[in-house]
Amino acid sequence: MLKAREAVRSLKEYHPPLSGRAGLRLDFNENVSGCSPRVLAKLRRLVPDRLARYPERQSVEHAVAEFLNLSAEQVLLTNGVDEGIHLLCGTYLQQGDEAIIVVPTFGMYEVFVQQTGACLVAVAADPECGFVFPTASLLAAINQKTRLIAIANPNNPTGRVVDQDDLLRVLKAAPAAAVLVDEAYYDFYGETCLPLLEQFPNLFVARTFSKAYGLAGLRVGILASQAAAMKQLRKMASPYNVNVVALACLESAIADSDYVSGYVREVRAGRSLVQKELQRLHVPFWHSQANFVLLRIGDKCLDFVRAMRARGILVRDRSSDPGCAGCVRITIGTAAHTAMLLKALPECLQELSSCSGPALPPAKAAM
Ligand SMILES: Cc1ncc(COP(=O)(O)O)c(C=O)c1O
Repeated sequence: MLKAREAVRSLKEYHPPLSGRAGLRLDFNENVSGCSPRVLAKLRRLVPDRLARYPERQSVEHAVAEFLNLSAEQVLLTNGVDEGIHLLCGTYLQQGDEAIIVVPTFGMYEVFVQQTGACLVAVAADPECGFVFPTASLLAAINQKTRLIAIANPNNPTGRVVDQDDLLRVLKAAPAAAVLVDEAYYDFYGETCLPLLEQFPNLFVARTFSKAYGLAGLRVGILASQAAAMKQLRKMASPYNVNVVALACLESAIADSDYVSGYVREVRAGRSLVQKELQRLHVPFWHSQANFVLLRIGDKCLDFVRAMRARGILVRDRSSDPGCAGCVRITIGTAAHTAMLLKALPECLQELSSCSGPALPPAKAAM
């Protein structure tokens, strides 16, 4: 009888709640206003001959490497950061190995680690301590079997960041492990550990065009490390992993820095307004450096998601993430979207408090 590998059979199916997303999309941390007009112009100029050919990644990879101040040998374009994580797991993990993640975090680390048959070690960040990066527990979890450590910085769904000193301690403590620093939300934070690549052969940095650049549908990400490590990873990737349309658009996307900086400015301003409003409304939340904020609504968190949806705003229930009982994550968009959100927030909270039972957990200072 045909049988999938045990590591695959025991995997849980993952179905992101993407269907029926009519409304303002504040649920998936996407860009909510669309990509640069230069990218759209490029799309309109695509000719059939371009689509008929297999994609050639190399020249665009050179341009992206230059954009990041790296050499082309250090950079691999991937089918989203998702593929970068998949490739890393496939390159470094096998049965008997251990991979460490800090939870709550981005769900695909777990999926791709488990596919390899390696053992997943989840180190918890404590919500009561502001989901601060648990450096000491992570260092204590490293052992001779550790082959991969995945860290999202800023983290999803908390929006919290890791100090560079803590990253340095991890990199030094695990020289035989691939340490992925996933900078998917870099643009909204502004700090990167790319300059550390020179010093640490075990460091991998990921970036995406899915968030600030508004290209989630094109599926393009970047994985960067030292040239020797990237040589191994390149063997794992299909030469055609990034499609011609994505490749054609990428140079236009990185050329329009005004578009990205304008969008990021609006998101940062919106993030600050939303956090102030949550403080005023006594809703516990965690200070975020990304394009979303995680808040704790409590027992009525699903009612809150429904009340927002009734006002045409989609937000994401995160209550099943470790340490996130009663939590909702809200993406921050443009000034106009923030205005809609700020109008709906107090209305929905008011609606919940007028139903029976406590609407919110006891008010606490923002974390
Ligand atoms: C931390 C983190 N990494 C990676 C991704 C996925 O990025 P991509 O769309 O490039 O696959 C996400 C998406 O939500 C994310 O939150």
